[in-house]
Order: sequence, then C-alpha cells, then structure tokens
Amino acid sequence: MNIKQEIERLRSEINYHNYRYYTLDSPEISDFDYDTLLTKLYQLESEYPEYFDSNSPTQRVGAPPLDKFNQIKHSVAMLSLKNGYSRSDILDFVKSAEDTLQEKITEYVVEPKIDGLAVELVYENNIFIRGSTRGDGNIGEDVTLNLKTIKSIPLTLDSSYNLKRFEVRGEVFISKSQFLKINMERKENGEQLFANPRNCAAGSLRQLDSSQTAKRKLDIFFYGFGIAQGLSIAEHSQFIEILRNLKFKVNPLIKKVDNLDQIFQYYQHIQSTRDSLPYDIDGIVIKVNNFNQQKILGETSRTPRWAIAWKFPEIEKSTKLLDVVVQVGRTGVLTPVAILDPVNIGGATVTRATLHNFDEVKLKDIKIGDTVFVKRAGDVIPEVISPDYTKRNGDEREITVPDKCPICNGAILKEAGEVNYRCISNLSCPAQIKGKISHFVSKNCMDIEGMGEKIVELFVDLNLINDAADIYYLKHSQISTLEGFGEKSANNIITNIENSKKQPLWRLINALGIRGVGEELSKLLAKKFKHLDQLITSTPSEIEDAIYKKNRQSRGGNQIIMENIKAFFKEPHNLNVIEKLRSACVNFEERELTENKASKPLAGKTFILTGTLANYKREEAKNLIEKLGGKVSTSVSSATDYIVVGENPGSKLDKAKKLNVEILSEKDFEQLIEIQTPDFK
Ligand code: IVH
Repeated sequence: MNIKQEIERLRSEINYHNYRYYTLDSPEISDFDYDTLLTKLYQLESEYPEYFDSNSPTQRVGAPPLDKFNQIKHSVAMLSLKNGYSRSDILDFVKSAEDTLQEKITEYVVEPKIDGLAVELVYENNIFIRGSTRGDGNIGEDVTLNLKTIKSIPLTLDSSYNLKRFEVRGEVFISKSQFLKINMERKENGEQLFANPRNCAAGSLRQLDSSQTAKRKLDIFFYGFGIAQGLSIAEHSQFIEILRNLKFKVNPLIKKVDNLDQIFQYYQHIQSTRDSLPYDIDGIVIKVNNFNQQKILGETSRTPRWAIAWKFPEIEKSTKLLDVVVQVGRTGVLTPVAILDPVNIGGATVTRATLHNFDEVKLKDIKIGDTVFVKRAGDVIPEVISPDYTKRNGDEREITVPDKCPICNGAILKEAGEVNYRCISNLSCPAQIKGKISHFVSKNCMDIEGMGEKIVELFVDLNLINDAADIYYLKHSQISTLEGFGEKSANNIITNIENSKKQPLWRLINALGIRGVGEELSKLLAKKFKHLDQLITSTPSEIEDAIYKKNRQSRGGNQIIMENIKAFFKEPHNLNVIEKLRSACVNFEERELTENKASKPLAGKTFILTGTLANYKREEAKNLIEKLGGKVSTSVSSATDYIVVGENPGSKLDKAKKLNVEILSEKDFEQLIEIQTPDFK
C-alpha cells in the first residue's frame, strides 16, 4: 500500500468510527484506539501535505476565524411550517388537504419537531461542499466550516445513489446536558449565559471562529431536501430511509402512520416522552407521505400545505420581571414568585410566575428588572425559565432571601441538602394553619373525629380558630349555630375535642407537625422525655439519644431532625400555642399506655348494628365499640353477643332473635357503654 492509499484507508476507517459513535451512538472501538488512528492520520497528513483534503476527518476541529459569513442563496426556498395547537387544528389541516386532493390521505410521516435551527448542506458528486443557515428562507449564511465540526455529518457520501447534487436539510441542535455544561463553564468565567439550548446551538453555529464551534459539540438531525438530483423516489418515508443509508443522522422516533387516530396517539406518546429525550423538541411535524400528493397540495409563500407542526401547548414569551414576592405554602415552603409585566401566553394573560426556589434564582442568576423568558404549559403554573442575559443594562437588582416568614414574621429554616426555605412557625402561620390543623386533628395525631379537612377550613375561614390550640376553646354555641350543623353534631365535635385532651403524649408530639418527626419518632421522644416540657428543654444530645435507635443508619438525618426540633421549640409563635394547649388542660404527660383490661371492657364481644341509630352514625358506633375492645361484624351468627337495633332494623334482627342473641336498643347500648366506662360522657 502506498502512502496515498494508507492515508485514504485511515480516513475511511475514522469516518466509519465517527459514524458509529456520533450517528448511531454505538461505538465499536475504544476512545484510545480511535485517538491512535487519528494521530496516525495527522502525522501522515503533515508529512505529505500534497495529499491534503478539506474533507479529511482531521479537518473537523475548526479553521482560522472568518471576518464575516458569506451569504448563500438557497436554490429552493427553505420554508417554514404552519403551526397547529390542538386536535381540531390538525383535523382542519387534514380536511382541507383532502378537499384539495379529492381523496383520502392514507399515509403520513410523523416526526419530532426538533427545537434547533434549520440548515442546508450541499453535496456535489457525493462531497460536502457548502452548508448554510436558513436565514430568511431565501438567503442564509455560509457556515460550512462550522458544520464540518459536527462529527455526525458525513463529509463524503456513498456513491451508489448517483447523487449529482444533493441539498439536504436538517436541524442543528445541542443536547440538554451539553447546554448545561456550557452554561456552567460560562458562569464560572463570568460570561453571559445562554437562555436555552436553542440559543446556545444558534450562538455556537454562528461563530466566526469555527474552532470555538468545534468545542460546543453540536449535533444534527436530517429530515428534508431542496434538490435531490439523481434520486427517484415517490415518498417521504423512502427519502428518510435513503438518508439513513447515506449515513445521515435521522431521528429514531420518525414513523409512518395511516390515519388521524395514529397521529393523535403519536402526539401523545411524544409529548409524554419529551422530558426524557436528551434534546429539546417543541412539538411534532406531520407530513403527507406521498410526493405526488405533496406536489398537488403545493405551498403558500411561506409554508407547505402538505405539512403542519403540531406544537406542544407550551409557549415561551419574554417579558420584564418587575418585582418578586414570597409566597408561603401550606407546608411552610417559601416560594419566590415573579411579578411580571403582563404578557399574553397562549391566550392567557400572565402576570405572575413561579421562580421555584431561591437556589434556582441563584443558579440562573435571575434579577429584578431582568427581561425573562416565561413558560406556560397547559394548566401548569407559569414559570420563569431564565433571564435574557443579552437585555441587561446594569440596573438589575439581586433577589434576596427574606430573613423572616413574610406572612407571620416567624423564623425560617433551610435544611442541609434541601432547596426550600420553610417557615417553622407552623402552628400559627396563617399560610399553613389549615394544613397544620388538619394534621393536628388527624387519625394518627389527636384523632378528633368529625373535624375533617372541610370543617377545619370552614372554621379557619370563619375565624373561629387561628391555630391548633384554638380548637380547645371552641364553644358549642359557635358550632351549633352554623349552617349545616345542629345540636347533635356540635355535641359530637365538642365531645370528641374534649376526649382528645387525654390522648397520650406521643400523639401530641406527632400533632405538632415538627418536620421529620412522625409517629415513630414521636413515640420514641414521648418514651424518653415523659413530659412535653422535658422535650422542650432537652439538649440535642438527649434528643439524639432518644431517636438514635430509629435512625441509627443516618447520623446526618438525626442532625437535621435535632435542629428541626430545637428550632421548633425556640419559635415564640409555637411556644404560645403550646401554652394555650396547656391552659386547655391537654395532656402533656406520658402515662402508662392503658391497654389493660379495664380500658377494654368490651374485649371479646361481637356486635351487630342494624337500623338507624339516633345519636350515632354507623361509623361512630363502630369506632366506639372498637375503642372499648369489641368487634363489629356484619353477619349474625352464634358468635354474636349483642345486636344493637335502631330505627327500621333489617332482617338481621329476625336472625338474631332466632339465634337468641341479646337485643339492645340504642338506650340499652348507651347504658352498656356507660356502665363499662364510668368516665364516658
Ligand atoms: S420540515 C417545508 N421537519 O421547524 C418543511 N422541520 O417551524 C420545513 N423543524 O424551519 C421543515 N424539526 O427548522 C421539518 N422534523 C422536522 C423538523 C423541522 C424541526 C424546524 C425547522 C423548520 C421549523 C418550522
């Protein structure tokens, strides 16, 4: 083999491995072996400059900077696409196309709509000679050198298709991860950040210094053509196949479908996988497959009538960020919210958008006064994506973390490893009270039956309660006079509240809603400290001792919980609520758990309930029996001890009579309970 042949062999071998790696994403050799081949080629090319070839794989690292880009006229205009946003838009598109064609369309090709920038590459006699941006559709910029740095672009083509002139089109993009990496580096260097991957790709492709482009690692998917002289094909799907054969990178999600239903399914499928794709897409493109039909349908001055983009219902707009307010959610999380110069996004006026959290604000370097990109996706809360760094004039102001809860002035805390700041004054912070009180009364806490979420909300809205302790100051008359309540239900609630005062200490601790302290830890803390006051005044190491067993695995986790507990009992609002609980005589002490026989007088007894009871709902009676150790069954048998009979009893009563089961009226039932439990009211 002579030198020339050796050089050509190396070039084609490297091209092959480029194709495996960059186009198919399936390399065959190690990076080391690849580098060895490349080094060898560099060596030979520098020793024998007479064999220079501008399409050699060594020429992909960029060239000396240009002064400006030359303009290039596209021989066939690069059109844009009409946008649709809904099923009915797509129906209209199909209907109008079928009207024109006077026949049904039976084949479409559907493709992801890559969110990058369109380019055209020209190959003459299978050699890449020029590449350009779309520009205004007619005239673009010559970015040949920059395109050459994209390793998945073939610089020479297999000659079997006899392509004399091939103008192939595709979308240049940058992967999401590469975009983040570039922005991170730029941030470190104090350079302006790119707002999104598309801007990053555009900025990278339009570099006068192509060696800079080479570093950005751009990529491309091909999907169309201007002129394909020498190709005789009848369908877009065949064209896509030929692109693959010619080793152009083609999106793997491109698919041929037959009807509208399949188009709808494809749209849904692509939308649901969108976030997991390594690159940005902003919709799907639907193309009529048959070239004859395409020709008949033709085009308007800007867009073809044989294709449409179905965009995802998400539109990004830019507007001014006027101010930032801090919202406090039901769980105490502080969320910075941007107040925006009103902007219409997808038909809705957006005036506020979430900034997610303060870490994100810092990472993205968002400032008051910035022009920001705002996204609204369907029903989701609008969000600020990033500033448009190019619009800065130096008057922008930092967004600062407040040092107190903006709602209640309580202390705020950010746990290690957490992104959110939280208000820890959670027993009385107005932003949190509904959620916190609902937690306080819930089954695993103070277990106050009859105080469901709706009722808690109502009481808070009516200002009857403003913190968890206020429950114990509710008066019968305040409830019984409310719409939808009566004597009886007010009685029930008041009784249940009263009874909850005797709940064991662990339930009270759990009810306080200290972050990270659930049922299990509450039990450990109650056992160790025996009195709430002991817990309040405990040292971190005592707390650590108490919960060590549970959280043996994670010392870091313990640290956070200890800090949460200490911070909680330092907060004056919380201490105030605790004092109110004390004054209401809520039990603060750990007593021996009364699981003994005396507290379970109905142990071993089986009850049947039939008919409507006047004073109890079925569920209430059942709970009462179970609390006292009894069981409630649904079918009468010889094992039944009592049948409690209300209004309009069912057939169970007859059966019970036959089996000689003891029959209790509602009154008998109450007496039975009272006898068994002297402190029952
Ligand atoms: S076809 C005449 N296919 O979307 C057909 N375009 O909004 C024109 N795009 O300018 C293009 N993915 O930059 C086509 N699979 C795809 C595409 C795609 C992204 C871009 C392209 C075009 C723009 C139109």
